Amino acid sequence: MKPAEINVTVDGARRKSADLPAPVRQAVEQAIVANRGRPGALMPILHAVQEALGHVPPDALALIAQGLNLTRAEAHGVATFYPHFRSAPPGRTVVRICRAEACQALGARALEAHAKQTLGIDFHETTGDGAITLEPVYCLGNCGCGPSLLVGHDELHARVTPAAFDELIKTARAAT
Ligand code: FES
Repeated sequence: MKPAEINVTVDGARRKSADLPAPVRQAVEQAIVANRGRPGALMPILHAVQEALGHVPPDALALIAQGLNLTRAEAHGVATFYPHFRSAPPGRTVVRICRAEACQALGARALEAHAKQTLGIDFHETTGDGAITLEPVYCLGNCGCGPSLLVGHDELHARVTPAAFDELIKTARAAT
């Protein structure tokens, strides 16, 4: 069932939900339809919307809240509590560095420092050219071969040195 027409505030302006971008409406409607009956539906819906759009835009939160009979403050509170959920689109490539214990024992902290310094950004930030978003992750299932990192959704790299990191970034930039 589609959420009913509602008024939402986007960039300070009152708008009808029907006026929101079609991809946002579609992503939210599909996520709500797929998860509405589940206990704790908000989390899987947020995940589904981020998977579809790359982030959870503020106007999507208004629709999600309406669809689940939550207040906007409740939906906003959950979405902003978890750093995993982005409120803005990510860079063209998302690089996730493992910060869990086994990788830390194998040099992940030095890799993390190198990544932040060379990219000029912190975790959850995107380079000025929009190419790279840097995010932390807590175990990639590659614990014996750390430091590990993931490029995009499925490109796992093991025993990543600072020099190897620089090469990966160069390749990612060239590919996008
Ligand atoms: S601790 Fe890094 S992959 Fe498991």
